[in-house]
Amino acid sequence: MAEQRVRWGILATGGMAATFTADLVDLPDAEVVAVASRTEASAKAFAERFGIPRAYGDWESLARDEDVDVVYVATPHASHRAAAGLCLTAGRNVLCEKPFTLNVREAEELVALARERGVFLMEAMWMYCNPLVRRLKALVDDGAIGEVRTLQADFGLAGPFPPAHRLRDPAQGGGALLDLGVYPVSFAQLLLGEPAEVTARAVLSPEGVDLQTGALLSYDGGALASLHCSITGGTPNTASVTGSEGRIDIPGGFFAPERFVLHRDGRDPEEFTADPADGPRVSLRHEAREVMRALRAGETESPLVPLDGTLAVMRTLDAIRDRVGVRYPGEHTTAHTTGQTADHPTDPSAPREVTPA
Ligand SMILES: NC(=O)c1ccc[n+]([C@@H]2O[C@H](COP(=O)([O-])OP(=O)(O)OC[C@H]3O[C@@H](n4cnc5c(N)ncnc54)[C@H](OP(=O)(O)O)[C@@H]3O)[C@@H](O)[C@H]2O)c1
Repeated sequence: MAEQRVRWGILATGGMAATFTADLVDLPDAEVVAVASRTEASAKAFAERFGIPRAYGDWESLARDEDVDVVYVATPHASHRAAAGLCLTAGRNVLCEKPFTLNVREAEELVALARERGVFLMEAMWMYCNPLVRRLKALVDDGAIGEVRTLQADFGLAGPFPPAHRLRDPAQGGGALLDLGVYPVSFAQLLLGEPAEVTARAVLSPEGVDLQTGALLSYDGGALASLHCSITGGTPNTASVTGSEGRIDIPGGFFAPERFVLHRDGRDPEEFTADPADGPRVSLRHEAREVMRALRAGETESPLVPLDGTLAVMRTLDAIRDRVGVRYPGEHTTAHTTGQTADHPTDPSAPREVTPA
C-alpha cells in the first residue's frame, strides 16, 4: 500500500460522514471509493455530492467490497458495534467514530474481533492526533509541570436539542456524557491513565439521558480530575493540567486547541501555538493521516489512539453512567469497571438525581 492511495469507504451519510469525507477529499493520498447508507437514495445522493464511484443501500455490500482499504463508521454510537463488527468480520480495517461504542462490553467485542482477524481498528478520537495536543502530551511526559496533580476539563453545548434529536434519544446512546464527556474523559486518560475511583452526579432528561454530568476521578498516584459535560449550556470548553512544578492552560476548544500556555513555576509563561502548516484547527485530517500511516506501516493499531486506552475510556464512561443511573435500552447494568467503586447501588429502582428538563 506504500505507493498507493488509501481507498476509503464511508458508512452512513450524516453530518460527520460529510465532514470527514470533505476532509479526505483534500488529502492527495486518500481516495473515497464507496459509501453505504441504510437507504439507496441517501447513498446515491451522498455519492453524487462528493463524486464517490460506488453507492450501497446496505452496510453489508460495503463490508464485502474488497476494493475498500478502510471503512469510516459514522452512525450514531448505538450502531457502532453492529456497523464496525460487520466490517471487521469481513476483513475490513475500521476507523470508528467516538464514543467507540455504547459500553465497554461492546468495545471489548470489537477489539477482540479486530485482534482475531488481524485487521486495523481505531476510535476516531481526533483530539489525540491533533499536533498541539501531541506537543502538550510530550511536555507533560517530559516533566515540564512536574508530577500531574490536578486536571480540569469541560465540554458543553447550549443546544437547544429538541427531544427528537439523537442527543436526547436513549435508543441512540443520547446524552452529554457519551457525545461530549468522552473528550474530557479521554483527555484525562491521555495524561493520567485509568482512574482508580469514579464519582459522578448528573441531571437527567425526562427520557433518561444526561443533560449535564460532573465527574470526579481519582488516581492511585494522588491526582484528581474534575470533568464536566453538558447539552444544556455552552460551557467554556477549557482544560487545565496542574503539576507539582507548574500548570498548562488550554483555552476554549481544548480538544482542538489553537494555543496553550505553559506556566513553569518561577518562569515567564510560554505560549505554544498551532503551526499554520498543519491546516485548519478543527480538522479530521490528522486522524485520517494517522490511519493511513498505520495502514502503510502494516500496523493493526495506532500508537496515538491505542485500543487499550479506548477500552479504559469506555470503562470510565460506564462507571460514570453507573453512578448517575443512565442505562440504554437492552443494557442490564453498566458496571463493567475494574477497581472503580460505586457510591450508590446499581439497582435501577435506586434513587437518582433527576431534574426533568
Ligand atoms: N469527531 C467529531 O468531532 C464528532 C462530532 C459529532 C459527532 N461525532 C460522532 O459521529 C457519529 C455520528 O454523528 P453525526 O453528528 O454525524 O450524526 P447524524 O448527523 O445524525 O448522522 C448519523 C447517520 O447515521 C445513520 N443513522 C441514523 N440513525 C441511525 C440508526 N438508528 N441506526 C443506524 N444508522 C443510523 C444515518 O445515515 P444513513 O441514513 O445514511 O444510514 C445518519 O445520517 C456519532 O457517534 C457522534 O458521536 C463525532
